[in-house]
Amino acid sequence: MIRPVLLLLHGFPLDSSIFRLFLPYIEPYFRVLTPDLPGFGKSPLAAPASLEEVAAWLLNLLAAEAPEGALVAGHSMGGYLALTLARLAPQRVLGLGLLSTQAAADTPERQQARLSLAESLPQRGMDALAQDMAAKLSADPGHFNALREVIARQSPFAAAQVLRAMAARPALTSVLTAFSGPVILLHGLEDALIPVGRAREMLAAHPAAQLTELPAVGHMPFWEAPAPTAEALLGLLG
Ligand code: MLT
Repeated sequence: MIRPVLLLLHGFPLDSSIFRLFLPYIEPYFRVLTPDLPGFGKSPLAAPASLEEVAAWLLNLLAAEAPEGALVAGHSMGGYLALTLARLAPQRVLGLGLLSTQAAADTPERQQARLSLAESLPQRGMDALAQDMAAKLSADPGHFNALREVIARQSPFAAAQVLRAMAARPALTSVLTAFSGPVILLHGLEDALIPVGRAREMLAAHPAAQLTELPAVGHMPFWEAPAPTAEALLGLLG
């Protein structure tokens, strides 16, 4: 069987290692590409990186790895990038999987909070952010230590730059509405970072999408409920 390419994009402030335990659930069905986004994991930061510039970097990767295009799934910030790819190069995005994410832009308050965090991060360091964020990421306390470790090893300078990029992103709702391929939406009902209402707004913007809502799951469905997350993504195969 020829497996379609699935470009799977991690969230903030994580790296591709976050998908390690999830890959066995989807690799039988997809040839999965999980790059470290610029500034995270092993990928150096291309400065200064707006989300459009990161998407252009991803288009280069796709040109090399999947010139005919790919299914694109993104977790949280990865979802902002998946939608940005669909905005810049819709013909290269064969389907969209939007996990624990949103198409809306930031509110002014959220933008301000991101910019303040970006300002303080290089002095505060990633350990403090890891401490704050781990409990908000997963509804399962058993995940906190592992999440703290992934966050703590990221670069505070890259994280600060990406916070500014996320604050500056436009609303991507019209991109979602116009998208002509399959769309899978998946969200945990206990998500403390992006409320499930954001996924419902995306469904309203693109009623042909399939939305899976997972009870007792927070912001990390592919850790907290890997089998249902994989099953939802199989919807991209049509
Ligand atoms: C993420 O998980 O990628 C972030 O929480 C997204 C965000 O801060 O908007």
